[in-house]
Amino acid sequence: MSADDPSARARRRLDEIRNARDRVLVAPSILSADFARLGEESSEAAAAGADLLHVDCMDGHFVPNLTIGPCVVQSLRRATDLPLDVHLMISDPGRYADAFLDAGADLLSFHVEAVRDPGPILERIRARGAVPVLAVSPDTPIDRVHDHLDQVGMILVMTVHPGFAGQSFMEEVLPKVRSLRDRLGPDFLIEVDGGIGPKTVRAALDAGANVLVAGSAVFGKRDRAAAIRELRTATISQGVK
Ligand code: DX5
Ligand code: ZN
Repeated sequence: MSADDPSARARRRLDEIRNARDRVLVAPSILSADFARLGEESSEAAAAGADLLHVDCMDGHFVPNLTIGPCVVQSLRRATDLPLDVHLMISDPGRYADAFLDAGADLLSFHVEAVRDPGPILERIRARGAVPVLAVSPDTPIDRVHDHLDQVGMILVMTVHPGFAGQSFMEEVLPKVRSLRDRLGPDFLIEVDGGIGPKTVRAALDAGANVLVAGSAVFGKRDRAAAIRELRTATISQGVK
């Protein structure tokens, strides 16, 4: 990695993000983009003010949908200097974590429901220089992640059942976000994923989320900059950038 390739620039952006504590991060999900134009779509998201690019990887087994593998992540890594927030919805994350890290994942999440012990995989991700993230599906009690909070850089709370973009936001999940926020203090990164848009973003922020995944609410709109601005307006009205 040379000092100025997209991967190096993405890591610098990630460091800036970690240091800017009072910000809400917007992470458009490439799942709702035009897959024939992923390079242009990711550049457009960066120009529109995205902080991260969320990449949904599904194996047709942990969830009923099949989407993106490491080779697409590798191509995205060359196409954008946004940090890649890779969300594995796969049954055997331990087997594939290295392939996604090799491909250029900057943050790598996998589901607590998929493994018996998340600890070794979280440690592996950290040892390789990426941010380890544990994801929790809507029906899973939040105490399943409690033993691992000192090993993660972020928790991803699903606000839809994993598998597809464009589903309705599950407000009933928000008490899990609130309890994590109370437990972890103001700086910890808590990502919400699923059904986030102009109508639901406030509830998610109120509960304590500070990283917003948005698929259809950004890539489903023609004007991505306007879509991201609309999400940011909600964050600014709550007193954060
Ligand atoms: C769902 C994925 C989400 C999804 C979000 O399994 O993890 O990231 O792409 O899409 P929207 O924002 O349309 O619900
Ligand atoms: Zn996702």
